[in-house]
Amino acid sequence: MKYDVKNIKLAAEGKKRIEWAEKDMPVLGEIKRRFSQTKPLKGLKVSACLHVTCETANLVRTLKAGGADVLLCASNPLSTQDDVAAALAKEYSIKTFARCGEDRKTYYRHLEAAIKHQPEITMDDGADLLSLLHTKYQKQVSRVKGSMEETTTGVIRLKAMERENRLLVPIIAVNDAKTKNLFDNRYGTGQSTIDGIIRATDILLAGKNVVVAGYGWCGRGFAMRARGMGSNVIVTEVDAIKAMEAAMDGFRVMSMSRAAAIGDLFCTLTGDIRVIRKEHFKNMKDGAIVCNSGHFDVEIDIVALSKLAKSVKKNVRNFVDEYVLPGGKRIYILGEGRLINLAAAEGHPASVMDMSFATQALASEYVVKNYKKLENKVYYIPESIEQWIAKTKLKSMKVNIDVLTPEQKKYLSSWEIGT
Ligand SMILES: NC(=O)c1ccc[n+]([C@@H]2O[C@H](COP(=O)([O-])OP(=O)(O)OC[C@H]3O[C@@H](n4cnc5c(N)ncnc54)[C@H](O)[C@@H]3O)[C@@H](O)[C@H]2O)c1
Repeated sequence: MKYDVKNIKLAAEGKKRIEWAEKDMPVLGEIKRRFSQTKPLKGLKVSACLHVTCETANLVRTLKAGGADVLLCASNPLSTQDDVAAALAKEYSIKTFARCGEDRKTYYRHLEAAIKHQPEITMDDGADLLSLLHTKYQKQVSRVKGSMEETTTGVIRLKAMERENRLLVPIIAVNDAKTKNLFDNRYGTGQSTIDGIIRATDILLAGKNVVVAGYGWCGRGFAMRARGMGSNVIVTEVDAIKAMEAAMDGFRVMSMSRAAAIGDLFCTLTGDIRVIRKEHFKNMKDGAIVCNSGHFDVEIDIVALSKLAKSVKKNVRNFVDEYVLPGGKRIYILGEGRLINLAAAEGHPASVMDMSFATQALASEYVVKNYKKLENKVYYIPESIEQWIAKTKLKSMKVNIDVLTPEQKKYLSSWEIGT
């Protein structure tokens, strides 16, 4: 079977949206043009486990242009855009295994299709594919020359494997590139999380008390955008420096136990587990809305909430479940606690994914050229690749920057001139 998508008839609609996104991805476009001529991935089997969105479609088209035989599966059961999956299968002949709303069994069946593809290069968003390759399918791992990881949670998991000497392939931590997290995690997640919340609820953000758990790249972006919409933003943190930064950025900082009683809307962006749990739900106001934009659906303890609730109404509105606590208090969970920007909206805008996926494409070329020298470790992307991406993006935005004069270059690498 070459694909497993929900409705192949959606292909024409998906193609239109993929082409619309492509217009906003000039850096990836430049790489695609070069890849079409030089074919750096010629004959290579690539399995990519990523959110199946318009932007991802343009990444896999770029890899295909570079000569790769690509298979794409979903990295989250709720993040697939079914029209895009259909277009990839029908219009671009990409082996695509992704259905929005797929159950756990189908999700893993699709991951297994990615493993049966016998990849030499893999791409992950959350490390599920690589984790399966290191456990149930360990015999197949020796074929993999290298792997790219797209998100913070995936890098955390892979670094843990490296520490335990369990890692069997070299990893490029695409997430940790500045051309990725400074823009994608911050501005991408910031905007698209707001978008997901609004599409799911249609609430007015102005005047609301919005509680942001985690002040990393994603939390910073979301807090900044929520403030821009007129919300009173409260930040919760566990890291003293990040908490200090949030306080000096002008946000109220407090523990989740205190914030629970104040918030109208809660959003977790920590990559951690059970950040909002039983004792917090008990303190919340009637009508509190709770969602997550961190990678896995473990940040909100929905199991505890279910046990606490006397009744649960699924889908009181698309992407909204209502939990009624004894005494009648209602709590609303969005998108079943999965990343709300991908569950209820379309993920990050193309312009920001342009840089993330340019980083992915160039990282795969780098692995092909250098895998013999790489050890089974987590590597950062070379600075020269990041600089090229940033310069190309600026050029596409028609932004010119200054260049160091010879005198400045010399001064900045010397010590003699002082007070
Ligand atoms: N929604 C998306 O599209 C999207 C995009 C990129 C990353 N992510 C995911 O979002 C999550 C956060 O990513 P990031 O890049 O901001 O990571 P980060 O490491 O920069 O920030 C996470 C922050 O959460 C804090 N934190 C940890 N446990 C906490 C707790 N119990 N309470 C409060 N704060 C806590 C940490 O101290 C840290 O400051 C990850 O799971 C990542 O994979 C999602």
